[in-house]
Amino acid sequence: MPDGTLKMLNNMKDKTKVLFVCLGNICRSPMAEGVFTHMVNERGLREEYIIDSAGVAGYHIGELPDRRMREHAWQRGYKLDSRARQVKTDDFFEFDYILAMDDSNYDALISIAPNTQTELKVKRMADFCRHHNMDHVPDPYYGGAAGFQLVIDLLEDACETLLNEIESNKNETL
Ligand code: 4NP
Repeated sequence: MPDGTLKMLNNMKDKTKVLFVCLGNICRSPMAEGVFTHMVNERGLREEYIIDSAGVAGYHIGELPDRRMREHAWQRGYKLDSRARQVKTDDFFEFDYILAMDDSNYDALISIAPNTQTELKVKRMADFCRHHNMDHVPDPYYGGAAGFQLVIDLLEDACETLLNEIESNKNETL
């Protein structure tokens, strides 16, 4: 292959689209969006990804992330400024990976997925954790500071594996 051909093929490829989903889209999923975006940028992959978040419920549409989540995020070096939105049918066609924070979010997503192919895009975020033995990212909304800190710990862990796996899948399909 001539010099530069691989780079050219890479530039022509579609971006990888990743959607993080929780209940309200004001705590866990905007935090996941912030952590994953930070890692993608750190690895110089900004141009290769579209990253977004949404909620299965519409209680907080248009709102900034919860103030407590933003404060804990800021203390850990993340600035969260997304606006809450609800998952929509188009998301299942638009995004390549849809990450649910807990089983309730997962079940809600599966129940509205338009077909089997789109159901397969839905994964559980905690399944990507390598350093924490948790099967979900717990909802911090009605709890204290420790819950928000745990969310960030779990998401940093899961995002690292998720990004590694997406990148190795991309390299395999080249
Ligand atoms: P999230 O947390 O799903 O991580 O955004 C919640 C936010 C709001 C509510 C519940 C959970 N709520 O009941 O309004």
